[in-house]
Amino acid sequence: MKRETEQKKSEEIKKQNVRAIASQVIDEVLSSGKKLKECVDKKAELFKDERDRALLKEICYGVLRNLPIIDFSIDLFLKNEIKEFDKIGLSIMRVGSYQILFLDRIPAFAAVNECVNSAKILKKDALTGVVNTILRKISLNKEEILQIHYKKPYEESLSYKYGMPLWLVKRYLKRFGDVESEKILDSFNKESPTSILFFTMEDYLNSKRILEREKFQLEENDLFELTYFVKGRDITKSECFEKGVFYVCDPASQLPAKSLPLKENSFSLDPCAAPGTKTIVISKNLKKNSFLISSDFSKWRVKRLIENKVRYNLNNVFLVYGDILNSLPFKDKFYSVLLDAPCTSLGTLKKNPEIRWQIDEERIKKESKRQLEMLLSVAKCVEKGGFLLYSVCSIEKEETLDVIENFLKENKDFEKAKLEIDKKFKDVFDLIDKGTLMVKPYQHKGDAFFISLLRRKIGKKD
Ligand SMILES: C[S@@+](CC[C@H](N)C(=O)[O-])C[C@H]1O[C@@H](n2cnc3c(N)ncnc32)[C@H](O)[C@@H]1O
Repeated sequence: MKRETEQKKSEEIKKQNVRAIASQVIDEVLSSGKKLKECVDKKAELFKDERDRALLKEICYGVLRNLPIIDFSIDLFLKNEIKEFDKIGLSIMRVGSYQILFLDRIPAFAAVNECVNSAKILKKDALTGVVNTILRKISLNKEEILQIHYKKPYEESLSYKYGMPLWLVKRYLKRFGDVESEKILDSFNKESPTSILFFTMEDYLNSKRILEREKFQLEENDLFELTYFVKGRDITKSECFEKGVFYVCDPASQLPAKSLPLKENSFSLDPCAAPGTKTIVISKNLKKNSFLISSDFSKWRVKRLIENKVRYNLNNVFLVYGDILNSLPFKDKFYSVLLDAPCTSLGTLKKNPEIRWQIDEERIKKESKRQLEMLLSVAKCVEKGGFLLYSVCSIEKEETLDVIENFLKENKDFEKAKLEIDKKFKDVFDLIDKGTLMVKPYQHKGDAFFISLLRRKIGKKD
């Protein structure tokens, strides 16, 4: 019995090999479409040592940010088609190749040995030979492999240099030209820092000392008020987080909430609200005697909305659990409606590098169709003279400009309205017309984003 327990224990320890776990995470994310952050955070709990957790994150994010060159290096020495190779085996080699090509502090022999070890741990003993051979060859040819983008045609070279799928590179080149595309690709492949928003200056001043004592370093965001980049541990572990004095969100995601027209004695609607980033900011800005109805159709996400309502004390917000594509009982009721629509999230590649491997052009088209359907549906809730704000964390044309254009073609009751936001946002980001703002990823340290403000015409009296 004791021996069995000991054996189990040593099995567990063996399983907690960073490279083996990283290989599992990469396989899971690429084959099942799961979110990288969620998978990494869950597996990181297996490791007590902060350095192991950091290495796990570095390897997983690094592989997904550099997949084209990593796969090129493996393909160069593999006899069979890379697509036909055992999935876990391929993941192990990707982990090894990333360390050899990009992590100079890890000696190549150690990376190779650890990956061979991972193959044993993950019960892929038959692949240890090939893993060993391929990784050694990559190590011997490292310098040449890293120069590959100089030898390829322009489009392909960008895919290698910036770790992006070729279809996405071609898309950007066609739409934005060479210079801007490179800026976009380069910025999307850089990690963006964690960002927090305080609700008042008093909250910031009261929390500053506690956060510093807890060893968090704050860096002020010049563009967004009361917004700070955070370095250090997971900020949600701070005692200030539980007090609800700040919210963790990308700076760009404040823009829709800050652009939504609000007035006294009125109701506003946030029909795709969960987990509540925009709801929280709108709630803090609501005028006297005004209320916000926030809803979502995902049970799990509505639970997070409920938690946020409690943590941030959102007494002027009422929650609904429902589907906006089914008939809504809110015809003509709201002064302003924010549709923060579901999208490909391609604007969040800095934080979520995996999305580039999970989305294709077909999916962009599908999202665009659904977004138009949703916009047409929620438009019915806007009162005459009221406002409809559309936002997505994507800058793909089909999900942004085309949705607005098609909506205005189908719904003649609406017209473009002027965005009343701080001039500095209009200066830094792209103001496409009076009501449409596009945030490109290289324009700030955060996500790419799109917002467009529409107004329901007053029309004739009923
Ligand atoms: C971009 S996310 C919203 C993020 C949220 N506004 C925030 O700031 O935290 C889109 C949301 O739309 C919700 N959704 C998708 N289809 C929906 C539908 N038919 N009815 C209601 N909600 C929907 C999703 O569950 C998801 O929470």
